[in-house]
Amino acid sequence: MEKLDNEIQRSFDTIKTMEQLETFRIHIIGKKGKLTTYFSALRDLDEVSKKSVAQKLNALKSTFETLYEEKKQILTTLELNAKLEQEYIDVSLFNTLHSRSFGHPITQVLDRIIDYFVNMSFSIQSGPLVEDDFHNFEALNLPKFHPARDMQDTFYFKDSFLLRTHTSPVQIRTMESHSLPIRVIAPGSVFRRDYDLTHSPMFHQVEGLVVDEAGKISFANLKFILEDFLRYIFGDVRVRFRASFFPFTEPSAEVDISCVFCDGAGCRVCSHTGWLEVLGCGVVHSNVFKAVGYENVSGYAFGLGVERFAMLLHRVNDLRSFFETDLRVLEQF
Ligand code: DAH
Repeated sequence: MEKLDNEIQRSFDTIKTMEQLETFRIHIIGKKGKLTTYFSALRDLDEVSKKSVAQKLNALKSTFETLYEEKKQILTTLELNAKLEQEYIDVSLFNTLHSRSFGHPITQVLDRIIDYFVNMSFSIQSGPLVEDDFHNFEALNLPKFHPARDMQDTFYFKDSFLLRTHTSPVQIRTMESHSLPIRVIAPGSVFRRDYDLTHSPMFHQVEGLVVDEAGKISFANLKFILEDFLRYIFGDVRVRFRASFFPFTEPSAEVDISCVFCDGAGCRVCSHTGWLEVLGCGVVHSNVFKAVGYENVSGYAFGLGVERFAMLLHRVNDLRSFFETDLRVLEQF
């Protein structure tokens, strides 16, 4: 019994795991354990020795049980701590999941553009993204083999269907389905085979069209609204109209604002001209009215690129970064 007592004391010191502890428990008080065998050996003793030996065995058993419970406590705590250490979760890693939502920068700029025109009593029109040759080109005074078609690198489908290269076909669709007066903008996505710092295959335009009886709409109306609009968007800038060419307008103009980066002094962004081109416009060409069967009317039209506006407003130099869906970039706006 003394030997067993020693063994018990020593062994508990060397036990390092719950598994070892269980093996040791079976070794001592399991069915065939050492202490259990001693208890069964009691029956071979006479009454007097039986009593004193039983007392000692019980004392030994209770010592074992106390040490066993102590060890079990310690090992449980150690194993739990090790598990917690190993399965530790750094909740701060998922920070972005908890950030609040925000509008895409292009949507934000588009919303501001739309706000202006809605306040000026324009209504909003839309048209299909898959267009036919008639609406995208022909009716806009761009007959087949017209050299101006080359300006627009078109994605074609079969049977002269295509992805619209501009929002101008909505001009045609609006006139086909509405009567005078017409006062609309048409925001939407457009598609061209282009990919570089300032071009992506999909981008957004806003088209404008105002038509009324002959003599009611003039270039002066166009000039007023676009100057007012550009100051609403860009703040205190100078606006200039420069003669240009578009097949669907005559006369046509491109509109520049004084450079928002150098305030007109000349810098790299404005190629040292002090001006930035921001939209195209003009008086609607008579051939366009002819294509939709309108007679004795007058009107103006304009078209702008939303991404270009966003780049100038936010000083972004790679247009493609708007579409790479990197939240770290987008959430800055
Ligand atoms: N559709 C032209 C383009 O995509 C932009 C444009 C220019 C639209 C002049 C117009 C306009 O309505 O009058 O480049």
